[in-house]
This record gives sequence, C-alpha cells and structure tokens, in this order.
Amino acid sequence: MKVLFVSAEVAPYSKTGGLGDVASALPGALERMGHELTVVSPMYRRVSDGAHRLHDVYPEIPIPAIGARFDAILADDGRNWFVDYPPYFGREGIYRNDGDEHSRFLLLTHAALELCRRRGWSPDIVHVNDWHTGFMPLFLRSIYGSDPLFARAQSVFTIHNLGYQGVFGSHIVDDLALGSSRYLLHQEHLRAGRVSFMEHALIYSDAITTVSPTYAYEIQTPEHGFGLDAMLRHRSRDVFGILNGIDPEVWNPSSDPYLPSPYSASELEGKHANKAALLARARIDPDQGFLTVGIVTRLSAQKGIEIALRPLARRLDAGHIRLVVLGSGERRYEEAFGWLAAAFPGRAHFQNGYDESMAHLIEGGADVFLMPSLYEPSGLNQMYSLAYGTPPIVRRTGGLADSVTHYDPARGEGTGFVFDHYSEGGVGWALDQALTLFQNKAQWQILQRNGMAEDNSWERRALEYDRIYRRVTGEEQP
Ligand code: ADP
Ligand code: GLC
Repeated sequence: MKVLFVSAEVAPYSKTGGLGDVASALPGALERMGHELTVVSPMYRRVSDGAHRLHDVYPEIPIPAIGARFDAILADDGRNWFVDYPPYFGREGIYRNDGDEHSRFLLLTHAALELCRRRGWSPDIVHVNDWHTGFMPLFLRSIYGSDPLFARAQSVFTIHNLGYQGVFGSHIVDDLALGSSRYLLHQEHLRAGRVSFMEHALIYSDAITTVSPTYAYEIQTPEHGFGLDAMLRHRSRDVFGILNGIDPEVWNPSSDPYLPSPYSASELEGKHANKAALLARARIDPDQGFLTVGIVTRLSAQKGIEIALRPLARRLDAGHIRLVVLGSGERRYEEAFGWLAAAFPGRAHFQNGYDESMAHLIEGGADVFLMPSLYEPSGLNQMYSLAYGTPPIVRRTGGLADSVTHYDPARGEGTGFVFDHYSEGGVGWALDQALTLFQNKAQWQILQRNGMAEDNSWERRALEYDRIYRRVTGEEQP
C-alpha cells in the first residue's frame, strides 16, 4: 500500500519525545514489510541546520486553500519529506505556542496533500498523528474530497497523548479554509467558542489507534479521557491499541555508539564500565556498590515527578541510592531536581536539557530506570531500559502496564518493579523492592536477562498496523 504518514516530529531530524521516535521507526518497519511510505514533517530550523543531506525537489508548491507556497525537500533516505515554509517553521524550537500555532500545523496538513498532488502519488492510507494533524481526516472529506487522487485514501489517526488536544478559540475558524464545508465542524463546540483539532480527528478518521492496549481502554474512561472519553466510547469499534516498539538500530546495547563499553545479555559485565562512565560524567562518587537510579524525561505533570521527589530524597539522604536525572520542561520540576542535586552532591546529579548521548549513557549505565507516570500512553524509555538490562520501576498504567511485569523472585519471572498506587508510598515501596533484590546478584541478573529477552521489535507491531490498514481499506473483514 501507499502510506502517507504525517507527523509534527520525526527523529533524527526533529524530536522532543517519543512521537519523533515512532515517526521514524514505524514507517521504517512498514517499508520493510513492502509498503511504500511518504513521511512528511516540517522543515524546522534544526532540520535545515542539522548535518543532513537534503534536496529541494519541488520548489514553490502552491496551497490554493490558504494561498501559500512551500518547497518540498527530500532527505537522502528517500522517505522523509520536509515542508519548507520559513515564516512558520524557521523559528527556534518545534512547538511554540505562538498566536499562529494552529496555522503552522494546518499548513503542514495541507502541504502533505499538495505534495501528493505534485507527485501524482495516490495514497491508500493517510496516517496522521496527534492533534497537529488532526484536521487531516476532515480535509480529506471536504477540501480534498472531490480530488480523484484521494478517492481511495482512508485515514488512520494515532493518539500518542490525549493530554494535548490542540484546542483553540473559534476565531481560528477562517484559518481552516473550509468554505462551504464549515458545517462539518462540531457546531455545538463552535458555538461555545472553541475548535479542537483532536476532537475532529476522532470524529472523521476511519480508524483511531493509540499506542498501547491499556491506554486504548483507559482513554474511554472519564478518569483518563480528558473530556473525550464519551466520544471515544462512541467509536470504540474503531479504536485500537498497539504498543510502540523499539528501533534496534538506535537502541541496542551491543552496538550503541554512545556507550563506552558495549554489552549483551551473555556478557553483562560490560555494563560496569558504562556505570563507571555515567558516575564520572555525573560527578557522582565512583563506588559502584549503590543502586543507581536513572531518569530521562520530559518534565511534565504526566511523568509523576511529584510522587518521586520525596522517596528519592529520603533514600539519598540515607545513603542508599545514587540518582542521575536528565530532563527539561516545567520550571517547578527543574527547580526540584536542581535542589535535590545541590542537596546531595556526589550522590545525585541533574542535567537540565536535552541530550541524546546522555540519554543513552543513562540507559546503559544506571542500575534501574524510574518512570512513575501519572499516565503513559505507551512510553519508550521503559522498553529501552528492558533492552539495556536496566530494570524499569514503573507505575501500572497505560503502556507501562503492557510492557513491564513485576519480578517474582520465587519463580524468577518478571522484568521490573511495578507499583499500583499513584503515591509517594508506591514509589518508595518499589524502590525498596529494587534495593533488596539488588543485594542478590544472581537474582538481579535473572531479572536483567528477562528484560533483555523481551521482544519489543517494531516488526511485530508493524504487522498490527498493517492489519488495521487492511481493515479500513476493506482488504480484510473486521
Ligand atoms: P514521551 O514521548 O511522553 O516524552 P516516551 O518514553 O515515549 O515519552 O519517549 C521519550 C523519548 O524522548 C525517549 O526516546 C527519550 O530518550 C527521549 N527524551 C526525553 N527527554 C530527553 C532528554 N532530556 N534528552 C534526551 N532524550 C530525551
Ligand atoms: C507520547 C506519550 C508516550 C508515547 C509517545 C510515542 O509522547 O507520552 O507515552 O510513547 O507519545 O507514542
């Protein structure tokens, strides 16, 4: 099938979190299955400034609906196209919350379809991701609805995070350029003064997927539905949960260029040298005897920082653990981790920022990886941790529940430490479980190897997407 895949970020060109990883790895896996992929994302400043070989294939493609022109730039990989429109994407960063944030991603949505037109390329599937591209399914039924090029196209919308919905005031309605199709907008909410990108994707896409089976269930409940649970329940027959996977080209301890000492399940000793390198880089005292807890994360309320701070501080104070944190985001969390690092020099370290090499070194060098999320659609870092023999400590929610099982020493089964209650007590309990097991080297290695043996490859997950593509195109009966 011909698949048009549109995303606000695509690694390694642009990335703030897991969406970038998925938009790179999933299309790759689908391509290996024989599908033909066109991936479209914006030409942010960091893409043009990066060390990528890019080709300006189609200059000045017009977008009649909004009266703009963009250049379509192709990467050397032959799959990734970039929408070059400097007035919108030539700014610093990826997401900006400027007054025209909605227009930036509407332009991306139009441009993806205009690129198809320019190439005479007729997609079977238009697969879009998160609120940024949420108007695609409606555009396919309105502005582009009479173009034979898109007559076959079925839309698939993937929810990576229901917490960000792209809700704007009704003043943006003209920027949607829907003309006589304006009646297709959610009229009640329009009258109430708001337009939601996510909501229109849920109404008009042919299939809705999200990034784990548990999250697919959770978002249909009031607790995790962010106000859209009723709408999702209404479409429950078209809602599917497919866990994310990991790209072994990028996240593989035996070939990771960021690790000073590569290792595998059969030679776990290699991990010690990485731990030594991590402790040195974090200016933590070099004694390897302490359980070193790693965290790599966007610092947002979703990630459960609140419930982790005090349990970590107590165990740092008692001298039981070491802590290395890499992250950026909300000020309050940056300050809290900054405070922890200052309070426990030589035991705790906080690097504020985004750093690919440090993210890999933490996965390779820490003993456990902490992810106490309030909610987690899929989560990738816990899967990277499993692959790196760095057992994850997670809360049982979303994709964390689907990818990590609590270790049972009696049976030697399980891959990490899983707690249920969103509380400091939950985190403390799980940390203590890890501390106790860490004393037993034989048990610890069983735990590490169990995780490393898990198959979270994208190959398997791409098969599930393939099934959904065939379902919406009518190739396969539900
Ligand atoms: P989310 O998408 O909610 O942020 P995921 O676990 O799915 O969570 O993916 C996070 C991705 O972003 C991982 O690849 C992780 O390594 C990366 N990441 C997050 N924060 C940083 C950071 N500060 N520096 C480097 N990589 C980061
Ligand atoms: C979102 C979610 C995360 C998921 C990622 C990629 O950012 O927070 O859980 O892994 O998208 O799907």
